[in-house]
Amino acid sequence: MIPAIRGTHDILPGEVERWQRVETIARRIFERYGYAEVRTPVIEREELFAKGTGETTDIVQKEMYAFTDKGGERITLRPEATPSLVRAFVEHSLEQAMAVPKIYLMGPMFRYERPQKGRYRQFHQLDVEVFGISDPAVDAEVLDLAWTLVAELGIANVELVINSVGCPSCRPAFGEALVKALGDDVKALCADCQRRATANPLRIFDCKVPQDQPAIDRLPHSTDYLCESCRQHFDAVVRYLGVYGIPYRISHRLVRGLDYYTRTTFEILGGNIGAQNAILGGGRYDGLVKHLGGPDRVGIGFAAGIERLVLAMPEEAGGASRTPVFVAAMGEAARDAAIGLLRDLRRAGVEAHMEYEGRSIKSQMKRADRLKAILALIIGDDELAAGAVTAKDMRTSEQVRVPRDRVVAHVAGLLKARA
Ligand code: HAM
Repeated sequence: MIPAIRGTHDILPGEVERWQRVETIARRIFERYGYAEVRTPVIEREELFAKGTGETTDIVQKEMYAFTDKGGERITLRPEATPSLVRAFVEHSLEQAMAVPKIYLMGPMFRYERPQKGRYRQFHQLDVEVFGISDPAVDAEVLDLAWTLVAELGIANVELVINSVGCPSCRPAFGEALVKALGDDVKALCADCQRRATANPLRIFDCKVPQDQPAIDRLPHSTDYLCESCRQHFDAVVRYLGVYGIPYRISHRLVRGLDYYTRTTFEILGGNIGAQNAILGGGRYDGLVKHLGGPDRVGIGFAAGIERLVLAMPEEAGGASRTPVFVAAMGEAARDAAIGLLRDLRRAGVEAHMEYEGRSIKSQMKRADRLKAILALIIGDDELAAGAVTAKDMRTSEQVRVPRDRVVAHVAGLLKARA
């Protein structure tokens, strides 16, 4: 036996229905908000993430699946979708091609993290991005989309947390204020924080080391250092959230672990899923498109972890209920007739099964039970002679004889009555 790689999972029948439900509901919502689907490759040039996600992030420094391919190129399995979608936006001039460049992507992402509940090495995201609109009303619209997604999946006990991390004109002053406020305390912080203090002081807020928390709690807040236009933007986002009627909490610690964010950052937390409780996260990234070689266009979006949505969804939320029908044959001649009936049922859109191993009628009925068939259609010599089929209701065991040319209509009628 060669087992699956640590941190990766097979999604099996019984669970896959919950995934399908998430995907179906998400697609419906994304389309309602005007998004179109984009599918990008799982492999990209390593530099796309080094430059996009950012050299100082844990993702790029520690977590990328990167390798040199046979042609000598440095390749990465995408750790997140945003740089890929920015690349596609620029490479295909989606701005010209689409009335409003609002795009979404669903698919696997790869990060070499320490696996635990809700954290995997191959995981899956639903990602949405909007390009070219700096109006704060679009921030609120994206937040409303995120909130609606979580609500329509029936996920309870969630909290929307937001913050503003400012822009390149106000952030340096805030970084300096952080370093100044820490003063000599910085020497008592963990090695990571000491590195962050010089490379990217904001990232200190990401620190999870318990001993560091009291010093971090005393640090100034980014919202107190915003420039006038970032201040106005943030106030407007908060006001629009009021218009949408979405509850939120402002957290000055929400700086997010990716380098590209400007102004609005947010996460939805909770859902009773344990320590890894960020169901989704995102924010504005006004400099990223240009930074990656495109035109000077702003952007905003978020990504939700599908594993975490599936974990947080209520227990009973599965797929649509199924109504299989079983075709049973007694004898070789009946087998051909049964195969013909199986074909006709499936072409009419009915989920139909048959036993190929030519077992006794008793074992065929057992199989029909295991399949949770609602109806067994039995064909033997008598039925062949009469040009009919015996239809057995699997719940009541009631049997009726139906002429062969009316069977499909009979089954369709029963299924319609049940739906
Ligand atoms: P992120 O916060 O790194 O943001 O990931 C977004 C979501 O992906 C998380 O909230 C979580 O649900 C899920 N996730 C992340 N890592 C793992 C993991 N190892 N296992 C399971 N789930 C995970 C981004 O990726 C940004 N690209 C979001 C964004 C889009 N910002 C703007 N646009």
